[in-house]
Amino acid sequence: MSFRLQPTPAERPNRCQLFGPGSRTALFEKMAASAADVINLDLEDSVAPSDKEEARKNVIQATHDIDWGNKTLSVRINGLDTPYWYRDVVDLLEQASDRLDQIMIPKVGCAGDIYAVDALVTAIEAAKGRTKPIEFEVIIESAAGIAHVEEIASASPRMVAMSLGAADFAASMGMQTTGIGGTQENYYMMHEGAKHWSDPWHWAQAAIVAACRTHGVLPVDGPFGDFSDDDGFVAQAKRSATLGMVGKWAIHPKQIALANTVFTPSAEAVAEAREILAAMEQAKANGEGATVYKGRLVDIASIKQAEVIVKQSEMIEGA
Ligand code: COA
Ligand code: MG
Repeated sequence: MSFRLQPTPAERPNRCQLFGPGSRTALFEKMAASAADVINLDLEDSVAPSDKEEARKNVIQATHDIDWGNKTLSVRINGLDTPYWYRDVVDLLEQASDRLDQIMIPKVGCAGDIYAVDALVTAIEAAKGRTKPIEFEVIIESAAGIAHVEEIASASPRMVAMSLGAADFAASMGMQTTGIGGTQENYYMMHEGAKHWSDPWHWAQAAIVAACRTHGVLPVDGPFGDFSDDDGFVAQAKRSATLGMVGKWAIHPKQIALANTVFTPSAEAVAEAREILAAMEQAKANGEGATVYKGRLVDIASIKQAEVIVKQSEMIEGA
């Protein structure tokens, strides 16, 4: 075990990140009134090139005009491979209100991408006397992004969250699918004549969680494109939560409640975690490092596992 303690990520609920195109201003009030913990106003791929400038203005205006309550407010800028991104950063940092919490950088490929945006943001914050530092969240959605995931997670003290972007990731990896997350028809094994579906996103999610947990960044699952498939969304979200992710995007309002439910530890899970902690308190009082709870082993590691659930629940309740 390293003597270095694992850093604690931002203590804020991040169960659902609701996206909306910066060009669809009619959605903004609805987004603000939603139950999502994080709002992502988009300047990138849900905005047509002809609407980029207008969307940028809309989003800046919305940081001044709309009451976003206690939500985390984030704007997704355009990728560093486009002619738009620098103007996104300059205008946002010069003109957005202090209500803006984060910018989301898409399609990051290496730590240098974060450094470039950080340099620009830092200079403008100083020039404008902005006292609230802008946080960064990033999307891992390319082969380079996943290959360099750890250096990206540690690229700046501004780094707060990291999402897996399934669609661009699949394209960059050359994956034979047009699905955005979830079960992929052709990703199965055969056993005794029956198909057993497996999860092609699993390894990338696990790599993101490991990089994030090493560097105190929140790991988040990205979009699930088929918003008619609630069961598919819930199954994907449950797998992500089990792997250590703290939340998931919603690309339609009907996905918000689903994400909030999955990423809020259930009353049963919290009760069981508290019972495990109590059983271990008793074990310690008896001078034992391990004991039996409901017929299974619990030991000192079980305390840490149970604390993950209890702390997450308390943090969400207290927010
Ligand atoms: N946030 C808040 N409200 C939304 C919303 C969103 N992202 N998308 C739709 N709504 C509202 C609609 O305005 C409508 O409200 P109403 O009942 O008051 O009329 C209601 O939810 C139902 O919407 P629906 O008609 O089913 O959807 P739509 O056809 O208007 O839009 C999408 C569907 C997918 C185009 C839209 O949800 C969207 O743009 N999503 C985000 C896309 C995005 O940002 N992608 C980038 C990240 S991958
Ligand atoms: Mg993308």
